[in-house]
Amino acid sequence: MESVTLYNDVKVPVLGIGTFMTSPEDTEQSVYAALKGGYRLIDTANAYLNEEAVGKALARAIEEGIVTREEVFVSTKLWPTLYETDGAVEKTLERLGLAWVDLLFIHQPAGNFIAGYRQLEQAYREGKARSLGISNMYGEKLERLLAAAQIKPHVVQLEAHPYCTEREYMRRMAEYGTKLMGWYPLGHGDAGLTAEPIFVKLGDKYRKSSAQIILRWHTQMGFITIPGSKNPDHIRDNFDIFDFRLTDEEMEEIARLDGTKKYYQADNQTEERYAAMHLPFEA
Ligand SMILES: NC(=O)c1ccc[n+]([C@@H]2O[C@H](COP(=O)([O-])OP(=O)(O)OC[C@H]3O[C@@H](n4cnc5c(N)ncnc54)[C@H](OP(=O)(O)O)[C@@H]3O)[C@@H](O)[C@H]2O)c1
Repeated sequence: MESVTLYNDVKVPVLGIGTFMTSPEDTEQSVYAALKGGYRLIDTANAYLNEEAVGKALARAIEEGIVTREEVFVSTKLWPTLYETDGAVEKTLERLGLAWVDLLFIHQPAGNFIAGYRQLEQAYREGKARSLGISNMYGEKLERLLAAAQIKPHVVQLEAHPYCTEREYMRRMAEYGTKLMGWYPLGHGDAGLTAEPIFVKLGDKYRKSSAQIILRWHTQMGFITIPGSKNPDHIRDNFDIFDFRLTDEEMEEIARLDGTKKYYQADNQTEERYAAMHLPFEA
């Protein structure tokens, strides 16, 4: 499996499975199928309400000798309502049934996100998180976080796909060696993205689906990619992208789509809503 090396030498598999908007039952099945199929990276979050399911699938795969804990890279995210809650990281680990996670994010630039990041830094120092990340953080909030961070983010998780590669953003982060983990890598299932003529053409050439071409493109861009899927065939196909390589000319052709669409735009109002959006398990 190809990997991306973080500035602290931790290696992250370039391809994993995402679990956004996936019920606990579906998560358990998808994550288990993914691990069985060779995946070694799983992305979840407090707010997905499926961390226990991720933990169960991983425990089953370990018990059956499919993987060891050390071979699997688990990332999760602290939700804003927990940024100032003592023990939020430990509770997260409890839900996952893990002694440590491989990557811990603050999920949103909402509420007291500096306090949230301080919790991450403490977890890092205590060996409870092997690397740290921020997500969805732009502009003045990003600068405030970067100035306050004693341990600079190893990873940033942002919306990224052929329509939006966050080139400027990543130029800014290059100073710290921060790597990009892209969310909505397949446009959250947007049929318009997979129908783009360039992906259909390259799919014919390499005998792959448009989704496989797009995922291969992500890995060649140097992105860590985490497509979500509940479909066993898609889970298998999404992993089957390492037996071909797009040429430089093909990468350039795909680059023409860059900057044409973003599916999600955060604003202060939404972010403030997140800061008050308590999760069911907090009750
Ligand atoms: N930090 C954040 O704020 C944030 C926000 C959003 C997402 N994320 C993370 O990023 C991950 C990826 O985002 P996402 O899951 O929302 O969107 P995505 O990966 O871009 O797309 C998922 C959709 O694509 C479909 N799909 C997957 N493989 C396919 C294939 N080979 N052919 C055709 N369709 C395929 C899936 O349907 P099937 O189930 O039918 O395969 C699903 O509807 C999330 O799961 C989550 O871990 C983070």
